[in-house]
Amino acid sequence: MATRLPSADVEAGLLAHLNTNAEIADSRSFASSLGVPHKELEDVIKSLSAFRIVESSDITKETWVLTNEAKGYAASGSPEVQLVAAIPPEGASKGVLKEKLGDVFDIGMKAAAKNKWIGFEKGNKDLVLRKVEETKDELQEQLKRLENGEVIADKVIDDLKRRKLITKEKSIWYSLKKGPEFVVKRKILATDVTREHLKSGEWKDLEFKGYNYGAHGQPISVGYVQPLLEVRDAIQSIFLEMGFCEMPTNMFVESSFWNFDALFQPQQHPARDSHDTFFLKAPAKTTQLPDDYLEKVKQVHESGGYGSKGYGYDWKRDEAEKNLLRTHTTAVSTRMLYKLAQEKPFAPKRYYSIDRVFRNEAVDRTHLAEFHQIEGLICDYGLTLGDLIGVLEDFFSRLGMSKLRFKPAYNPYTEPSMEIFSYHDGLKKWVEIGNSGMFRPEMLLPMGLPEGVNVIAWGLSLERPTMILYGIDNIRDLFGPKVDFNLIKNSPMCRLGM
Ligand code: PHE
Repeated sequence: MATRLPSADVEAGLLAHLNTNAEIADSRSFASSLGVPHKELEDVIKSLSAFRIVESSDITKETWVLTNEAKGYAASGSPEVQLVAAIPPEGASKGVLKEKLGDVFDIGMKAAAKNKWIGFEKGNKDLVLRKVEETKDELQEQLKRLENGEVIADKVIDDLKRRKLITKEKSIWYSLKKGPEFVVKRKILATDVTREHLKSGEWKDLEFKGYNYGAHGQPISVGYVQPLLEVRDAIQSIFLEMGFCEMPTNMFVESSFWNFDALFQPQQHPARDSHDTFFLKAPAKTTQLPDDYLEKVKQVHESGGYGSKGYGYDWKRDEAEKNLLRTHTTAVSTRMLYKLAQEKPFAPKRYYSIDRVFRNEAVDRTHLAEFHQIEGLICDYGLTLGDLIGVLEDFFSRLGMSKLRFKPAYNPYTEPSMEIFSYHDGLKKWVEIGNSGMFRPEMLLPMGLPEGVNVIAWGLSLERPTMILYGIDNIRDLFGPKVDFNLIKNSPMCRLGM
């Protein structure tokens, strides 16, 4: 076998040949004349064609190639010859032969028997006897010839096909001639002027590689922003522009007290059922509640006050102490309002938050057991429903939703309460986008906020507007383990309007 040429020599051989010959008609036979695999020559051809040193045209052909099994026979002989060679003059048992030959045994036995190269002793089917001295390995020869690209008779091809020793493969090889930039030896072009080039004066004689202005740069892998975070940012900016301060929402676990009781939500309210709310097993209860405020909350639930009759039931501290995953960020608003009420003198505030809440819901296309809530509130003297409507119109128009409608609704902690609807130009219908209201005096006065101070507030999910903006109709495509990373990667950086 010829020793392998390094690719620089393959290139030199090819260029030398083309220098004295008009063309190379077939790269495959040229590769075998050089003694290199065609693949190696192909790499050289591609590189030379790129610099137009040679010109190549494709020749596509279907050829027969050896299967792995056949490659084995081409190297070590056909199964039948291997079998016969393994039989000593006195014969050998099938077991011994099988052990020696392995996989080749069964096929070898069949083919050798067909050729009448082996036989058996009368009455002993187990002892294999050799019937011939010399065996000529035609199969091996044929396979080798095929491997070398020699022409093979159709009858032989049919035979090999039948034995599943060859398969058809499409292959490309090339015809070659000199290109416009033909040289016998490629110059190595300089890519940069170095300090050494300048010092030695070598730069004067160097030939430089041209710039490829059309080349693409390496794609940069940057961070991507999840659509929910993108919309959260936009909404956050709107709140900040409107003078709102962010509330600290870093507590997923809340007590029932701050999530429900302080909001004047009675203890037998259905939302406080474990079918609607996730309660904690450990720690099941909170240990810290402000006692004198708690006493006032108990009273307003049981017997009212501040012009209210209350609910008239036996309020239990036990129930208020139960820990849960907050069902709304209004729990945080309540804590903040209580804190504000303790600061004297009273100063008006605008607060907002955007964070996660949890509800024990069956998961479907539009519901998840956890989602994000956007909440805004304004606390000041003499606020009215008109102020609430005005603020909502301002807020939502900044999001691109300027056609709003309000529908009376009910929340235990607000009176009046309004659902907010917006006309969606794309969907051509009114869609519900949020909930709002004025916090009840039964909620605000026990906290210690001054008489005459009102709170207007609203809440909406972050997922709803994000789904509308991004045209996503299944919430699980937006949040959770099934989100396709490409959605995040390919989503636009900015959008104007809803
Ligand atoms: N907490 C309400 C909800 O969960 C939203 C809301 C906030 C309603 C503030 C009125 C006022 O939907």
